[in-house]
Amino acid sequence: MTPPNFRSLMVEQNPSTESTTPQSSTPQSKSNQSTTRASVVTLGSDRLPEGDVTIQVAYSSLNYKDALAYQGHRGVVKKLPHIPGIDAAGTVIDSRSEHYRKGDQVLVTGYDLGQGHWGGWSELIRVPADWIVPLPNSLSLREAMIYGTAGFTAAQSVMALQRNDVSPNMGEVVVTGATGGVGSLAVQLLSHLGYEVVAVTGKTEQHEALLACGAKRVVGRAEITDDSTRPLLSATWAGAIDTVGGPMLQTLLRSTVYGGCVTACGLVAGADLSMTVYPFLLRGVSLCGIASADCPMARRRQIWELLAETWKPNNLDSLVTEVSLEQLPEQVERILAGQIVGRVVVKIGYRTSDNGWK
Ligand SMILES: NC(=O)c1ccc[n+]([C@@H]2O[C@H](COP(=O)([O-])OP(=O)(O)OC[C@H]3O[C@@H](n4cnc5c(N)ncnc54)[C@H](OP(=O)(O)O)[C@@H]3O)[C@@H](O)[C@H]2O)c1
Repeated sequence: MTPPNFRSLMVEQNPSTESTTPQSSTPQSKSNQSTTRASVVTLGSDRLPEGDVTIQVAYSSLNYKDALAYQGHRGVVKKLPHIPGIDAAGTVIDSRSEHYRKGDQVLVTGYDLGQGHWGGWSELIRVPADWIVPLPNSLSLREAMIYGTAGFTAAQSVMALQRNDVSPNMGEVVVTGATGGVGSLAVQLLSHLGYEVVAVTGKTEQHEALLACGAKRVVGRAEITDDSTRPLLSATWAGAIDTVGGPMLQTLLRSTVYGGCVTACGLVAGADLSMTVYPFLLRGVSLCGIASADCPMARRRQIWELLAETWKPNNLDSLVTEVSLEQLPEQVERILAGQIVGRVVVKIGYRTSDNGWK
């Protein structure tokens, strides 16, 4: 049975005179845009969106996109009020789907969760059954959210390198934004699979941490950024997982070896790609786009099984910060400033005896 109310971190119009928080509202933080504000609120369960399956969330996570949603960014949030959180892992408490029963442990990442649909920064979510992935046997709910969309995206990127025949014996593979969520997990996965990883970071104080994650060596951003207009640079990298875009992506494409592959998933350093097609024509370099939110379900399940089993790094827990809903605003500011190291996991926690919760 669905409990009568649930807590969540809600983003709403600011200032708001109409109460969207019938039971309590604790202001936590103002976003950078004065038009929105975020607070931990208690909502009646009748406010949950349409969906087949209601899930009691144990853990969620913080991704860059969540920080944009927290700010009410119109490219991410369709309408206010909104509950961010593109990731959630928890237990089914109510289901109209023949595929899921009460007590099933499940995870949801991507689709419209935390964007057009209320997301995982909440004790409860209600979602369409076809967004759900059963939790693989060898994965805990917390581990699923250490990965979250970041790990899933890193894994998709690794799979793209493999599908483009970038094997560990071809030479060094670069990971940019290496201390970020996607980047740090890409370093761990690649290293676990036997690749020689060159981690690129703007945080000199995190070199040791990246070496401990499995990087063979760590370099600064400037070392792999070439501002010249030369169409091709010295052929250096077997492949790259780029999470930042901009000049670094352009440089990587121009310095990848014949037959190599570069994956692109992010744009924190820029959305433009300004270069010639020579790397593609003369070196057969592949540029592989990664779009994790709408990854088809068959591939999605395959990747989660890999993450739970043969791809699971021994040091998965090494760069994790665990926070509560109330502590999220501070972490949002940090991810927007590029200061996060590794993954931020949100422990939602269960209430034990409160208004019908048990
Ligand atoms: N396409 C998809 O499906 C998909 C899925 C997930 C994420 N993404 C995107 O991937 C990117 C990374 O996401 P995330 O969640 O891993 O974010 P994150 O945790 O904030 O990591 C981003 C990292 O990029 C580096 N960085 C930040 N600002 C930079 C700048 N101006 N120039 C160069 N490097 C900079 C920093 O690492 P260092 O300090 O170590 O350099 C930072 O930690 C975001 O753009 C996100 O939207 C896309």
